[in-house]
Formats: sequence, structure tokens, C-alpha cells
Amino acid sequence: MKALILVGGFGTRLRPLTLSFPKPLVDFANKPMILHQIEALKDVGVTEVILAINYRPEVMISFLKDFEDKLGVKITCSQETEPLGTAGPLALARDRLIDGSGEPFFVLNSDVISEYPFAELIQFHKSHGGKATIMVTKVDEPSKYGVVVMDEGSGRVDRFVEKPKVFVGNKINAGIYLLDPSVLDRIELRPTSIEKEVFPKIAAEKQLYAMVLPGFWMDIGQPKDYITGLRLYLDSLRKKASTKLAAGSHIVGNVLIHENAVIGEGCLIGPDVAIGPGCVIESGVRLSRCTVMRGVRIKKHACVSSSIIGWHSTVGQWARIENMTILGEDVHISDEVYSNGGVVLPHKEIKSSILKPEIVM
Ligand code: GDD
Ligand code: MG
Repeated sequence: MKALILVGGFGTRLRPLTLSFPKPLVDFANKPMILHQIEALKDVGVTEVILAINYRPEVMISFLKDFEDKLGVKITCSQETEPLGTAGPLALARDRLIDGSGEPFFVLNSDVISEYPFAELIQFHKSHGGKATIMVTKVDEPSKYGVVVMDEGSGRVDRFVEKPKVFVGNKINAGIYLLDPSVLDRIELRPTSIEKEVFPKIAAEKQLYAMVLPGFWMDIGQPKDYITGLRLYLDSLRKKASTKLAAGSHIVGNVLIHENAVIGEGCLIGPDVAIGPGCVIESGVRLSRCTVMRGVRIKKHACVSSSIIGWHSTVGQWARIENMTILGEDVHISDEVYSNGGVVLPHKEIKSSILKPEIVM
């Protein structure tokens, strides 16, 4: 089977992290977001993954060459010369998606995290006889998503409304699809939206089905949701009794610590923390609800909560970093500095406190 991952867009909502890497390569729980997806696709027998990109192809290509060998999955890029939206890229990659087998193919938004129940999706798709299956999940605030109105019994979709202004339901498009090759016949090679132009039509023809996604789901394309997503992800590792979670008297709740990270004496870490490879956490540090990316140093007695510390940054002694502070790559926070929701661009040195949420250029 094949899969296409939609990797376009500039990831503006995840700046400043996406100033250093394209969104799919931003680490989540110690590996690039997109790797979680590619590994899960491989597990259900996908042999070729096509990345639909329109931005910084050179970075993506060097990354994927690395992982092609490691994972044993063919990974190729399909590059747009102008952004083609969420459906146009399927038309562009048409010849690669169709291999004559008649098998359906996967399409994924690159910024959604879940347990990826792809085996269940394949099974459901084969059982209903429609042309397309989308996964849906329930959320409290459906207006920022694509909303699906479906028949609970059969799963048949009656309506698909992208970002509705008025309430139509709370089941939303999770950004994970399985499509028959015939769906490609209705997509033109131009900038076009699968949510606005393709799904509503297939639904009107009663050929679109939806499956409620078991387990957790999150679009991690913005910092607050990214931090929530990490909590849900770690909680699902806990439920699966994963041995990847850290243990010890200095650990509270669910914590992921890369084997190459060094943790000092007398730290208290957790809940909901991910510490990447090569990090040094000095003694007496307190970390909760945060992500500390590759190569970061947190100095003695610093305290970090509800924040993301970008690659190779440092946090000074007795510093206090909180309330959705996002440090870009290679940011250096001086000793004793306080950050309340500061969003700091890459390669900056911060010598005085940031007292209220703001962007520091
Ligand atoms: N190749 C390519 N070209 N990819 C694109 C383009 C483009 O021009 N525009 C967007 N994408 C990719 C994004 O990188 C992302 O993986 C996916 O398409 C969806 O775009 P987002 O910008 O993240 O959309 P959204 O989050 O507002 O809404 C979408 O996702 C929701 C679930 O998170 C929609 O699919 C909603 O219906 C859905 O509920
Ligand atoms: Mg999104």
C-alpha cells in the first residue's frame, strides 16, 4: 500500500520552532512528528510514502534519505511549484499513487498525532463499500476543524462542513483518510481543498464514510495543543505499559527521557515531560509539562513548566520559564531570568525578564 502525507504550509502557528525546521520535522516526544506517522504506516504494510511538499525541499530530502534506510520504507517527495492546498497535491502525485492494484491509499495531515489505528481503518474501509473513509474524533471546539455529520450506525457521512460558523456537530475530521484510486478522478491539478471541494461532493453521493477514531487525537500545529498532545501521547504510552517511560523517585507522572540525556542530582521531573538526546539537566532542576529538545542544557535550580525549549538552547541557573514560553533553536536565557509566555526567535540571548506573553525578536 501507499501513503501520501500533506507536508505543505509554513507552520506559522508553531513559530519560532518552524523557523529552524519544517513543521513535520519538529520533534514531538523525542522524534520528528512525521516519523511517528511513517512508522505506524510501515506497521500496516505501507511500502511507499510520498511527502507532498511546497517548502524547503532540501531539508526534507536529506532527512528522508536518512530514514528510508533505517525504516526500510521508500520515501519520496512530490514537490509543488505553487501551494496546491490539501487536494491538489493528490492530483500532482496521481501517477505514483495509482499502481494498478486497485488498492486504496492513505492520506494524512502531517500535524495530527494519535495511536494511528490504521489496521482498523483498512478493515472498516473494506467493509462498507464506499469510495473514501475518513477518521473522526470528538472535540469541544469544533469550529476550527472540518465537521462531519454522519449516520452513527453505518458510518455514512451526510455532510462535511469545513470550519463551520454555526454549530453542526462535534465530530471532526481527524486528518487521516483511506481513499480508493477512483477518488483521484475528481481532483483537478490546481490549488484546491479536499475539505471544501472533494469531501462534500463524495458525501452528497453517499460514498463517504467515517470511523470514530479509538484513543486520543490532537492537531499539534500550535504550542498549546502541542503541549496537550504530549500529555495525551505519554498517557497512551502509560496505558500500553510502555517501558519507554522513566521511573525513579525523582520522576512524577509520565516522563520520557532520551537514553543519552544526563540528569543531575536532586531534580524533580514530571508530569508530562519529554527530554531529548544530548540534553544536560543539572542538579536541582524542576521540570513539568514541557518539551526539552535535543542538545539543551538546563542549569542548576532552574524551573521550567508548560513550555517548549528548542534545540541546543540553554536555560540559566535559577531561571524560571513558564506559561507557554517557546524558545526557538539556540536561545540562551541568562541566570535568574523569568519568562512568562515569552516566544523567543532562534539564536537570541535573553538577559532580562519577559514579564508578559510576547514575541521577542
Ligand atoms: N503539500 C501541501 N500543499 N500541503 C498543504 C498545503 C499545500 O498547499 N496546505 C496545507 N497543507 C498541509 C498541512 O501541512 C497539513 O498537514 C494539512 O495540509 C492540513 O493543513 P492545516 O493548515 O494544518 O489545516 P487545519 O489544521 O486548519 O485543518 C485541517 O486539519 C484538521 C484536523 O487537524 C483540515 O483537514 C480539517 O478538516 C481538520 O479537521
Ligand atoms: Mg492542522
